[in-house]
Amino acid sequence: MTFVEDTSIGAIEVDSDFAGALFDGLSAPEKSIPSRFLYDAAGSTLFEKITELPEYYPARIETEILRKYASDIALDTPPGAVLIEFGSGSSLKTELLLAKMRDLYAYVPIDISDAALRGARARIEERFLDLRVLPLRGDFAQPIPMLPEIADRPRLGLFPGSTIGNLENAASIKLLANMARMLGANGRLVIGADLKKDEHRLIAAYDDAAGVTAAFNLNLLKRANRELGADFDVSQFDHLAEYDGGCDRIEIYLVSQAEQTVEVLGRSFHFDAGERVHTEHSHKYDIEGFQALAARAGWRPVQVWTDQDRLFSVHVLETV
Ligand code: AVJ
Repeated sequence: MTFVEDTSIGAIEVDSDFAGALFDGLSAPEKSIPSRFLYDAAGSTLFEKITELPEYYPARIETEILRKYASDIALDTPPGAVLIEFGSGSSLKTELLLAKMRDLYAYVPIDISDAALRGARARIEERFLDLRVLPLRGDFAQPIPMLPEIADRPRLGLFPGSTIGNLENAASIKLLANMARMLGANGRLVIGADLKKDEHRLIAAYDDAAGVTAAFNLNLLKRANRELGADFDVSQFDHLAEYDGGCDRIEIYLVSQAEQTVEVLGRSFHFDAGERVHTEHSHKYDIEGFQALAARAGWRPVQVWTDQDRLFSVHVLETV
């Protein structure tokens, strides 16, 4: 949804969702901005760069696990089934599964980005000539009506990347329950979950030497400047990654280097020196803890794979 607002930079088209979230988040006593706003076009490009960093093990290890066990997943998938991917993005990991699947009726990528869906569809249709690709544009966190065409078919869900970890516990249970409904009776879900590990390794993954994660985080402020005409001086904020051992999660923040005031759409927000804006958290699980979480949303564990160093896990779940 968009609306037009008069500001000092003139009439601009404003994303009211982003503006509202920014107002709310920066007005609170403990400032925060919801992590979903990290992924505009620039943010998504930076995230793709993160997945190539030496310190960012999750993408690399999950790909390794999926490559190793794709045939097992394919063997357990009934003929005529539909593969539904939640937040498919570039659909790169999906190709590892598709390469082993025979007799899949269709691949349904769900994403909020039209551009991502178009790109992925073109690439996948070119490589898998017999496969139907039926993209759905939307927010997978909301219930999405299933296409009548696939209503009676067995369904396999795919939710890689440990994206589940970016949600609060209550929200992740809600999302998993929503997926259980969408995938139906005997529906299965292949889902990535990042594992607890040495704190230094975690911090390095979220505060890399090349500064890509810092740029990814700071892009939120650039986005506010671009889209809302805000006047953040990005050089006056630092990226910070911390591990909260009590909540088992990495938290990332933007930290104001000095006392400063920033204008967003005619409203002023004050920052103390050292004040933090929370921008994302990323839960780390153990296997049993993740299975228990999934159980609360109507899933029973079928299979779980990890790498040798137990850095990352890929679970297969089935609806109860
Ligand atoms: C969105 C779950 C894939 O939490 O590891 C990476 C996002 N943020 N570096 C994660 C992220 C900073 C990432 N996932």
